Amino acid sequence: MIRLNHVSMEYRLTGTRVAALRNVSLEIAAGSFVAIMGPSGSGKTTLIQLVAGLLTPTSGEITVSGHDLHGLNDRAMSEFRNRTIGFVFQSFHLPSYYTAVDQVALPLVFAGVPEAERHKRAQSLLAEFDLSDREQHKPDQLSGGEAQRVAIARALINNPKVILADEPTGNLDRVNGGHVLELLQQVNRTRGVTVVLVTHDEKAARVAERIIRIEKGELA
Ligand SMILES: Nc1ncnc2c1ncn2[C@@H]1O[C@H](COP(=O)(O)OP(=O)(O)O)[C@@H](O)[C@H]1O
Ligand SMILES: [Mg+2]
Repeated sequence: MIRLNHVSMEYRLTGTRVAALRNVSLEIAAGSFVAIMGPSGSGKTTLIQLVAGLLTPTSGEITVSGHDLHGLNDRAMSEFRNRTIGFVFQSFHLPSYYTAVDQVALPLVFAGVPEAERHKRAQSLLAEFDLSDREQHKPDQLSGGEAQRVAIARALINNPKVILADEPTGNLDRVNGGHVLELLQQVNRTRGVTVVLVTHDEKAARVAERIIRIEKGELA
C-alpha cells in the first residue's frame, strides 16, 4: 500500500540545511495499522507529510496505493490527496465557523458531490460515530474528544484507502485519547482502511499491529 524507497528529505533554510529524513526505506501493507514512534524532531511529521504528498522528498521514491507520487502533476496530486488520503491533525484543524455536519461534508464539496447527498453521507457517518446529537455544534461547542472524532469522520468521508494521523491524541486527556484510538482501530477493522498513527506515547502505540521506530531521521 505504502512504499518508501531510499527517501531523504532536507529542508533548506537560508544558509543552512536540515536533514529531516535520511535514506528511509519501508513498506506498509494494505489494511494494516502501523504506529510511527520517535522522539520530538526525529522526522515523524515529515515522514507522513511526504506520504500525503504535502512535501516532496529531496531524493528517493514514494508509492501510495499504486500512485508514484513523483509522477503526479499538481492536479493529479490534489486528486490523489482527496481520494486516497485522510489526514488527522493533533489540533483537529476544524474551521471555527462550520457546524460538525458541514465539517464532515466539506471534502465532498471538492469531490463535486451534490449538496443533499453530502449532507446525508455526513449525517450517517456522524451517527456511526455516536455524534448525531452534535451535528449542529461548531468546534468551540465540542469537547476535544468530540472534535477529534468529527475530524476523523471528515478524513473518512471520501472513503480513503489510508488514514494518516499525526499525534491525534496529543491534545486530549487519557480517556478521550482512548476513545480516539478505539475509533481508529474500529475504522481499520471494519472498513479495511490502512491506518498510520504517529505518536510518542508507548501506550497509544499498543493499538497498532506494528511499530516503526525512527530516530534522528533514520529507521531505528
Ligand atoms: N519546515 C521546516 N523547515 C526547516 N526545518 C524543519 C521544518 N519542519 C521540520 N523541520 C526540522 O526537521 C526535523 C524533523 O521535524 P519533524 O518531522 O517535524 O519531527 P517530529 O514530527 O518527529 O517532531 C526537525 O529537526 C525539525 O526542526
Ligand atoms: Mg511532529
